[in-house]
Amino acid sequence: MQAPDDLRAALNGLLDGLPPTRAAQAVDRLIAAYRGATPTDAPILRDASDVAAYAAYRMPATYAAFRSALAEFQARAGAWAPATHLDVGGGTGAATWAVADAWRQDAHASTVLDWSEAALTLGRELAAGADSAAVRDAEWRRAPLGGAVRLPESDLVTVSYVLGELDAAARVSVVAEAARAALGAVVIVEPGTPDGYARVIAARDQLLGAGYTVLAPCPHDLACPMEGTDWCHFAARVNRSSLHRQIKGGSLPYEDEKFSYVAAARFPAEPAAGRVVRHPQIRKGQVLLDLCTRDDGLSRGIITKKRHGDLYRAARDADWGDTWPPPAES
Ligand SMILES: C[S@@+](CC[C@H](N)C(=O)[O-])C[C@H]1O[C@@H](n2cnc3c(N)ncnc32)[C@H](O)[C@@H]1O
Repeated sequence: MQAPDDLRAALNGLLDGLPPTRAAQAVDRLIAAYRGATPTDAPILRDASDVAAYAAYRMPATYAAFRSALAEFQARAGAWAPATHLDVGGGTGAATWAVADAWRQDAHASTVLDWSEAALTLGRELAAGADSAAVRDAEWRRAPLGGAVRLPESDLVTVSYVLGELDAAARVSVVAEAARAALGAVVIVEPGTPDGYARVIAARDQLLGAGYTVLAPCPHDLACPMEGTDWCHFAARVNRSSLHRQIKGGSLPYEDEKFSYVAAARFPAEPAAGRVVRHPQIRKGQVLLDLCTRDDGLSRGIITKKRHGDLYRAARDADWGDTWPPPAES
């Protein structure tokens, strides 16, 4: 789920010409702003250098997380495809690029809404070099989100890493509006932290209350069985750019972006019977799978070489976040 080559090329060019220490300072400022109190009364992404830092440093990760969530949604949504897409709090457009990659026919029109003019400007510039016509032709519109927000109706509404920047009341009204405005589906992604998960669960409750069916990650529309100190989240691997290595140090060529998400639809479709909710543990002759299941809530599957044959081979290939049983057997 790496960002496509055209997006990576555009992002790599962003900090060209900036001395590495200036680029690192811009990212440090941004991280400090995000650690401060949110919501804020004005955009955190205030000017071109904030936005360039955000795009270079965070967009590959938000893209990867959102694209992973879309892949799980698509696996359940069959042939459904959006003709119109609304990217709420879309910033520099990570979710818009991910939607275009997921439905490559370019048969949809995307609209990006955000209150940061600087983010929209950079988003538009990045989009101009996209291979995808849907990204190139996206409309970038300034719009503050909050109580009185009225969203245009669209087949697919995406809300990527936005709810955490809104106060509780704005969060409820934005999710309610997303649920009203979406003609087909809503996909919401938040950071994979306990707080991000709590926001996703609250949004999931709202979507269920509005008559949606959750297609991913949950295998059911019941209450989430994760309790106490546990929270449902997944990981998307992101290649580290030289900027990342410079800022975070360390030698790993990648990092894992943790995210929580909910993808829900108005149209008839079935969630999977189960989903792998932890890294599978591979032992000698057996694989332990921690699963969230439609019928038994949280449970552990022990798949052995001796008893399960082909299923054991599939279990060895299974990944955190995959559906289970594997698609051919669901
Ligand atoms: C963390 S960024 C996520 C951007 C993009 N969706 C992504 O996934 O990379 C949060 C975005 O929400 C926007 N945002 C935050 N509060 C907002 C508000 N009250 N009205 C409109 N946009 C808002 C910010 O300007 C920013 O672009």
